[in-house]
Amino acid sequence: MTKENQQIVLAKRPEGMPTHENFTYEDVEIKSPQKGEVVVRSLYISVDPYMRGRMSDQKSYTQPFPLNETINGTVVGEVVESEDDQLSVGDKVTGFLGWRYYNTTPASQVRKIDGEQAPLSAYLGVLGMTGLTAYFGLLDIGEPKEGETVVVSGAAGAVGMIVGQIAKLKGAHVVGIAGSDEKVNYITEELGFDAGINYKTVDDIQEALSGLCPNGVDVYFDNVGGEISDAVLNLLNSFARIPLCGAISSYNRTDGDLGPRVQTKLLKSRAKLQAFIVGDYADRFGEGVQDLAKWLSEGKLKYEETITDGFENIPDAFFGLFQGKNLGKQLVKIADPKY
Ligand SMILES: NC(=O)c1ccc[n+]([C@@H]2O[C@H](COP(=O)([O-])OP(=O)(O)OC[C@H]3O[C@@H](n4cnc5c(N)ncnc54)[C@H](OP(=O)(O)O)[C@@H]3O)[C@@H](O)[C@H]2O)c1
Repeated sequence: MTKENQQIVLAKRPEGMPTHENFTYEDVEIKSPQKGEVVVRSLYISVDPYMRGRMSDQKSYTQPFPLNETINGTVVGEVVESEDDQLSVGDKVTGFLGWRYYNTTPASQVRKIDGEQAPLSAYLGVLGMTGLTAYFGLLDIGEPKEGETVVVSGAAGAVGMIVGQIAKLKGAHVVGIAGSDEKVNYITEELGFDAGINYKTVDDIQEALSGLCPNGVDVYFDNVGGEISDAVLNLLNSFARIPLCGAISSYNRTDGDLGPRVQTKLLKSRAKLQAFIVGDYADRFGEGVQDLAKWLSEGKLKYEETITDGFENIPDAFFGLFQGKNLGKQLVKIADPKY
C-alpha cells in the first residue's frame, strides 16, 4: 500500500505531568493484512486518564506501555482493506488499537458498530468504555436507591456526567463536583443534577457539600481522590457505598500523596469502598450497552463531547484531561469517513 501512515510512540516515561518530550511521531508502513486481518483507518481516537498510569513502569491491573512502541487505546475507524470473511471494506469498527492513522489488526480484535444507531464517536464514550464504567460502577457497586443522596466527583467528565444522570433515573438526589462554573451550570441546567459545586472556587468543600446534602451521602462515586474525596468521606451515612473509579488528582503526583487515613471513617459509617475496573464487567457489556442505548434513544440520557481536531494534537488532548479542559468525553477526530 502507498498510503502514508504515522504512529505516536512513548519515547520516555513521564515524571509528573506528561509533556511533548514523552512522545515521538514516527512514519511507519501500513502492514498488508494477512488472512483474518483488516486494515482500519482511524476516524476518532480516545484519550483517557487511565493511560497516564500505563505510561509509568509500575505494578497495576494492566501492563505498562512498552517504551518506543505505539500507545494503544480505543479507536473508532473504518475498514479500508479486508482479508476477513466477516468484515468488509466500509464497515465501521471499534477496538483497542494504536495511535496510528492506519492499524492492521486481526478482525477478531475489533467490533463492528452501527453508525445509524448512534454517532460513531458515541462508541468511545457513552456507548463505550466510559459509559459502561458509569453504568456498572454506579449500579453494581453504588446501588443507588430512590431518595438516597449520590455525590459524584469529576461530574462534568465522560464518566461523571453519565453517573449523575443514571442516579437521577434511579430517583436519587444528585450532587456533582466539577472544576468550573460552566461545568456546574451544565450538569445542573442541562443534565438535571440537583446541585453542583465548583471545587476550585468554593472556600470549604465539606461545608458546601453538607449544605447541599442535608441527609448525608449514601453513594459517593469517586473519580478524583485527593482532598475532594477526603471531604466527601466525612459526610457518609451508615452503610454508604463508594465505587472507587479513579483518582485523577494523584496520577501526576510525585510526592506519594499522603492524605487523611480512611479506616476510622469507613468503620464508623460501615461504608463499603470498592475499587473496580470496567473490564471486570466484560461479560456483561451487552447488557450495559443495551440499557444505555435505550435511555439515549428515549432522550433520558444526554452526553457531551470535546473533540480536538487532528492526529498531531493527540498528546495535547491527553494533557488537557489533567487541566480540566474537556467537558464530557475527550476525543480526537482524525478523519471523516470515506464510505
Ligand atoms: N475504573 C475504570 O475502569 C475507569 C474507567 C474510565 C475512567 N476511570 C477513571 O475515572 C475518572 C474519570 O475519567 P473520564 O474518562 O471520565 O475523564 P474525564 O472526567 O472526562 O476527564 C478528566 C477530568 O478530571 C478532572 N480533573 C483533572 N485533574 C483533577 C484534579 N487534580 N482534581 C480533580 N479533578 C481533576 C477534570 O475536570 P474538572 O474541570 O472538574 O477538574 C477533567 O476534565 C478518572 O480518574 C479515570 O481514571 C476509571
